[in-house]
Amino acid sequence: MSFRTPPSVDYVEDFSPGNGALPPRAWYASSDAASLSLNGSWRFRLSATADAEDDSFAEDGYDAGDWAEVSVPGHWVLQGDGAFGSPIYTNHLYPFPVDPPRVPTENPTGDHLRVFDLPDDWPALTEGGSVLRFDGVESCARVWLNGTDIGEFKGSRLPHEFAVGHLLKPTGNVLAVRVHQWSAGSYLEDQDQWWLPGIFRDVTLLHRPAGSALDFFVHASYDHVGGLGTLRVESDVDGRVTVPSLDIDVATGESATVPVEPWTAETPRLYDGVLVTEGERVPLRIGFRTVALEDGLIKVNGRAILFKGVNRHEWHPERGRALDLETMREDVLLMKRHNINAVRTSHYPPHPAFLDLCDEYGLWVIDECDLETHGFTEQAWRDNPVDDDRWTPALLDRAARMVERDKNHPSIVLWSLGNEAGTGRGLTAMAEWIHGRDSSRLVHYEGDWGCRDTDMYSRMYADHAEVERIGQGLDGGPHQRRGLPFIQCEYGHAMGNGPGGIADYQRLFEAYDRLQGGFIWEWIDHGIKHPELGYAYGGDFGEELHDGNFVCDGLVFPDRKPSPGLAEYKKVIEPVRIEGDGGDGTVRVTNRYDFADLSALAFEWAYDVDGETVEAGALSVPALAPGESAEVKLPEPPAHGRGGETQWTVRALLAGDTAWGKKDHEVAWAQLPITERSSLPSVPASEGPSASERQIRLGPASFDVRTGALLTIGGIDVTGLRLDVWRAPTDNDEGASWQTGERYGELWRKYGMHRMQHRLDGVELGDDALTVRTRVAPAAWEVGLRTVYRWTSDGSRLKLTVSVAPEGDWTLPLPRLGIRFGLPRADRVKWFGGGPGEAYPDTRSASKLGLWHSSVDELQTPYVRPQENGARADTRMAELGGLRIEGEPEFWFTARRWTTEQLDAAGHLTDLEPGDTVWVNLDHGQQGIGSQSCGPGPLPQYELRASPAEFSFVFSKDA
Ligand code: GAL
Repeated sequence: MSFRTPPSVDYVEDFSPGNGALPPRAWYASSDAASLSLNGSWRFRLSATADAEDDSFAEDGYDAGDWAEVSVPGHWVLQGDGAFGSPIYTNHLYPFPVDPPRVPTENPTGDHLRVFDLPDDWPALTEGGSVLRFDGVESCARVWLNGTDIGEFKGSRLPHEFAVGHLLKPTGNVLAVRVHQWSAGSYLEDQDQWWLPGIFRDVTLLHRPAGSALDFFVHASYDHVGGLGTLRVESDVDGRVTVPSLDIDVATGESATVPVEPWTAETPRLYDGVLVTEGERVPLRIGFRTVALEDGLIKVNGRAILFKGVNRHEWHPERGRALDLETMREDVLLMKRHNINAVRTSHYPPHPAFLDLCDEYGLWVIDECDLETHGFTEQAWRDNPVDDDRWTPALLDRAARMVERDKNHPSIVLWSLGNEAGTGRGLTAMAEWIHGRDSSRLVHYEGDWGCRDTDMYSRMYADHAEVERIGQGLDGGPHQRRGLPFIQCEYGHAMGNGPGGIADYQRLFEAYDRLQGGFIWEWIDHGIKHPELGYAYGGDFGEELHDGNFVCDGLVFPDRKPSPGLAEYKKVIEPVRIEGDGGDGTVRVTNRYDFADLSALAFEWAYDVDGETVEAGALSVPALAPGESAEVKLPEPPAHGRGGETQWTVRALLAGDTAWGKKDHEVAWAQLPITERSSLPSVPASEGPSASERQIRLGPASFDVRTGALLTIGGIDVTGLRLDVWRAPTDNDEGASWQTGERYGELWRKYGMHRMQHRLDGVELGDDALTVRTRVAPAAWEVGLRTVYRWTSDGSRLKLTVSVAPEGDWTLPLPRLGIRFGLPRADRVKWFGGGPGEAYPDTRSASKLGLWHSSVDELQTPYVRPQENGARADTRMAELGGLRIEGEPEFWFTARRWTTEQLDAAGHLTDLEPGDTVWVNLDHGQQGIGSQSCGPGPLPQYELRASPAEFSFVFSKDA
């Protein structure tokens, strides 16, 4: 009998960051040293435990012919159609028992195998050395090359390199990598995201010629007083640094000071340079800028900056966190095109190529370390790794791997210690190390409200009132923090419909110097493409613990299509303010950039009548410096010979193509009303209702004689027209379970807003009107809405006036207040009102008054979890299904191929089956959206409180 000795896997559960790897260093692409990408198809074997297999697979000659294959970079749980396990989504709960540093015996372990030859032109193996680099592996890996164990590492989103020159051979190299899903490192990686094991970033073999630099540090500062840049490059191997366009040619370690154009996120001026050592030429992209904490403010090049940022996780709906360059570029371009100027790399250093793009296109970056221990909050942070010396080497290793890899990027202005890890000595050690290593940047961390380790006060989801107090310096707090600037590293939780209230935050950020802006949570929905569900979220893979669709809270959908929240944000943070009074023909233009003047923009005016532009032209605006304003005269209003509502639309467009946008791309805009909206066409009540046995007739309409319910208008069937107060609760209506404020989704259901009963109190046929009296109220409660429908007609048109009088003690806001009805056939929609996208009371900044066209399907916003969506604000007129509807006052217009109840019941978009009826809501009021899925609810001014209301619609057949 023989017993197999299981391999030792102690490294999986030890505190150490790993063994055998080279010290961390700058990440760069050499001009001339050879490199070999080992990305591609690898042989793959999955085991259920860490020690199920021995290491014989790492030996030369091992036959892996019957193994499966996976793509590297990639996550195995997203490959193999479920054969390799499934993703798990938790927000902050560890999906395993908390007993650090131990992890479960059930520890999915993927053996990866790749055999490679060196290319023919690979330098002779005796010349210099070679380094094997892993840019990202989750969560712990052990590596063998040609049968030799070269080490193991943890730190998923950080690079790890090994010296392997002595092991290489020209052909038949066997690279074996054993990856464990769970390790001690998992305790440090409890970010709110999918747990996705695998080799998810590049694997590369790099030749290191003799006499090449391993590491170098580019110091490029800018003196804004003298307009001078100072460059000094430290390198571990001596060499020379040249920047031809600046006539710089200095030895490493020496500085050169010359006049330069500085780098900023708005003007990302990079200078090409080269670091030449005996063995290698390394291209440099140098941006001169100085980051400082001065006068209690974060300043770059002497000026305080305002972050208009987003939190970006790396995400692709099919490839998870294995992103290709084009996807990264798409993110940057989308951000730039939506006026975003900053990114927090929540919550780990991104693929380094993303930072190159930030340098190139211009974004301020908070580079965040791969560290979160949020699950310890469940035990009041007891045993938190960041306050336990045994873990400190791992924390310092993470800090160093981030800083060393990314230190040469001008776009990075702040280093962040991590996210939601409580406080502790380990964090302090990280901050001290970072401050010591790189004094040219500031340190951020949100979890430390006392600001012991940080250079700014940072919070997440603080409500408007608190942010204002902080702006005023009335927040008290420890002495240490009082003189520090403030940022909201997360706010505006973009889950589902929303976020609401961001315009109100922006006003505060602009009003108080101490408030230096914020970062919307978050950039993209992490939905996983799924054959039956459209996009999957937490729970869709049968996870034991999960947090549902909390993982879908981005400004762009999983496919990167912008959601209305992104349009709203773009408008709220636009870098040019255009204001004025349409009547007096003058606009005031203010440059709200921090550095750029307005010379890159061209301005245009348009004169609109009833939402249609009748004339447009160029508007000459001086190239204002940051902060400057000018009054600009608009032309004489053109003669148009039409009545109607008139306005100016003034727009700021890109004057020419830029790296990120085409000429005429819209950057900012405003609309200035000239004449008021004409009132509703008068419908003289020239006809009275007449009743037959079954029906009441009034002008073009017929009604049920018993109930007074509308049946047809001009021969078009109208179904179920009545008062409606229900909307399918949004994620923000539902609120997060830990929210202390009122959670309206729950309250509305409790008080029966989804099951209102309509009691008929009377159908009255008057001389000139049909009046239907009702009381709309939920079972079990005494609150109600007395609702009167008054119908009149001039023979061809039909007017409805709805009067609503609340009764009882309404302690909760209404979801909506309006009417709804069904129309049989409707596809094309035309409306005069706000558009093109949806809007709600506190998400309406981007809604532009115009005459818009769409299909019913295009009116829908595809939130990954279906919920209320698609309302168009300020509607004066809508045409669909053969009807023309005008309203007074303006109304919120919604049309969809399913009912609110079906929308409410759906868990995924694929649950929504279009029916034959198009359901139309014409709302007098909508409840605000807020951000309560992880933040404050709607501000009081955006709440729809039950109060007496009257609103009218005129229906006619559309011409
Ligand atoms: C924050 C956290 C983020 C995310 C967000 C909610 O607390 O830092 O990672 O969980 O809340 O979506």
